Amino acid sequence: MNTKKYTVTAALPYANGPLHLGHVAGVYLPADIFVRFLRMKKEDVVFVCGSDEHGAAITLRAKKEGITPQEIVDKYHGINKKAFADFGISYDIYSRTSNQIHHETAQDYFKTLNDKGSFIQKTTEQYYDQEFNQFLADRYVTGTCPNCKNEGAYGDQCEKCGSDLSPTDLIDPISTLSGKTPILKETSHWFLPMDQHEEWLRTWIKEGTLDGVQQHDPKTWRNQVNGQCMSWIDGGLHARAMTRDLDWGVKVPLENAEGKVLYVWLDAPIGYISATKEWAAENGKNWKDYWTGDTELIHFIGKDNIVFHAIIFPILLKEHGDLILPTNVPAYEFLNLEGDKFSTSRNWAVWLHEYMEENPDKIDELKYVLTAIAPESKDAEFTWKEFQARINNEIADILGNFVNRAIVLTQKYFDAKVPQLNSLEEVDQDVLNQLAEYPEKIETLIRKYKIRETQAEALNLARLGNKYLAETEPWKLAKTDMSRVETIMNIALQITANLTIAFAPFLPQKAKQIAGYLKCGELEWDVFGTSTILPVGHEINTEKPSILIAKIEDSFVDAQVAKLEASKAVGSSFEPQKEAVTFEDFTKMDIRIGEILEAERVPKADKLLKLLVDTGLDKRTIVSGIAEHFAPEDVIGKKVSVLLNLAPRKIRGVESQGMILMAENEEGKLSFVSPTEGFGPGSEVR
Ligand code: MF3
Ligand code: ZN
Repeated sequence: MNTKKYTVTAALPYANGPLHLGHVAGVYLPADIFVRFLRMKKEDVVFVCGSDEHGAAITLRAKKEGITPQEIVDKYHGINKKAFADFGISYDIYSRTSNQIHHETAQDYFKTLNDKGSFIQKTTEQYYDQEFNQFLADRYVTGTCPNCKNEGAYGDQCEKCGSDLSPTDLIDPISTLSGKTPILKETSHWFLPMDQHEEWLRTWIKEGTLDGVQQHDPKTWRNQVNGQCMSWIDGGLHARAMTRDLDWGVKVPLENAEGKVLYVWLDAPIGYISATKEWAAENGKNWKDYWTGDTELIHFIGKDNIVFHAIIFPILLKEHGDLILPTNVPAYEFLNLEGDKFSTSRNWAVWLHEYMEENPDKIDELKYVLTAIAPESKDAEFTWKEFQARINNEIADILGNFVNRAIVLTQKYFDAKVPQLNSLEEVDQDVLNQLAEYPEKIETLIRKYKIRETQAEALNLARLGNKYLAETEPWKLAKTDMSRVETIMNIALQITANLTIAFAPFLPQKAKQIAGYLKCGELEWDVFGTSTILPVGHEINTEKPSILIAKIEDSFVDAQVAKLEASKAVGSSFEPQKEAVTFEDFTKMDIRIGEILEAERVPKADKLLKLLVDTGLDKRTIVSGIAEHFAPEDVIGKKVSVLLNLAPRKIRGVESQGMILMAENEEGKLSFVSPTEGFGPGSEVR
């Protein structure tokens, strides 16, 4: 009996925001296609994913939205799980790392490794925010990147130059909690001494061998993956902390580890194991079968995850002792959108859940385009214009057109029954020979993770059918040689049946729809490439086939582009919304209407006006930075909003007792925030 198994994972997305098309094209969709192919081949496969719910990505987002981390993960786990399900990503399980089974699994894992001596406990100095009484791990510190001088680098990574950092590498570090410069303070953590693993990692990645045993063929790994790993290893691996001083995460399961949790990049990949366990328990399987023995472990990821899946997690798997290492880590480059990077903060994105809500009738169409442009070997770009062109010129014109002709002509000439195959001419034999080559072509490509090319081959099969009909012209022969028409239409129908197999992993709904026209049910891989799938006399659907793939109108493209541009206009000119404040915070501010009684320029300060303001309580001096926008005579007599209880401060030697509130538009123009008639000095603003 074949005991070989496949465990296919897709990177657990952080539950800190919705998914956009970049995520889908560069991880989830290719993983799904690969798995659907394996299932067709009747392989024993489990496909796992779930939400990554720990780490600073979550807690910082919670802070920003002013809700708890648990509320954040509940919200986005729900949105993302549903979006995946609606889009038809066929996970066997979509779990989450806040589940108890995950906490237990991750803790057991940590303990096992700790007992084996896989970690080193070390005390080091780390940044600490004295105002918030908190150590500042990873993204809790920002500063200037030592490599490229980008001022917005994070404590774990510079997104500009891609270098991997630790908080103490940053120049001019700032706490993201208080905005202040942190101090250094001693703390003790468990480190993974990655330097001790350099040697076997090098051979494993370069040769694909471990302890002299061949594990995988290194030529099947993408250049980008091999390249990044080797540059890491050649640069020298260092001990990396596997724990953090945080209260959100999986608690370190040891004594004297109060206030410490597992590093998110330790706990999250173990999430693949927890998810497998959860699935196994629900389905009467043994999870270990999928993590030991003759099993291929395949991690689909984005390129920013390479080191975690090809270096750190393999070290952890090997240290555990009995678990397999990945046989491949297909990593994807990035997808851009209409000439710019996808950006959540600038709202420059096509969100999967939104697309699904607006276009529930165009699911496979989107799948087709995302696979056709998948960023497999280099960054790629999504544009709505190309979306339209690919759908209209490729699947509508080629696939849709061929299938429609095959069905309609059979209905017309043969009363919707599969006609017989008479003697074959060269053109027929040639088409059948080519058809027979498809299963191997497709299987070879997809097993090399060349998913984009595989889909292109599936389309070539439809092209073959189109060309065959164009060359043989059965609609002309129908007047003279019905016996030829029988043969041609038999072959055309067999090709149509084959298309349901070729496209099943890519366009599952369309494949079903075609099978519906043919009334052939779901076909098995074994018959792929053969020309006797539909028996002579078999009745296909007698109704006129509904449109398989509708053309995308220009108006659709225009609307999508306009929507995107509108969101960008908002996103780029204005600051994103600030962190939430409580109602109590808000009520601390005393804002009232004041009337400007006097105004004069502050000598040697181009921007400043010194104002005397009637606040209804008193007359006070306020220095305001509006001199470049308003002359003194323009403002006298104006009623404006004033923040009264801003702590007094000296500006250019003048004590300012409050602040005038101003509105600023996209062009940087200023306006007072003024009441309508009848609101005099002292009126409260709240
Ligand atoms: N949440 C990570 C990201 O979005 C991916 C985690 S993959 C896992 O980049 F292996 F850690 F689960
Ligand atoms: Zn940098």
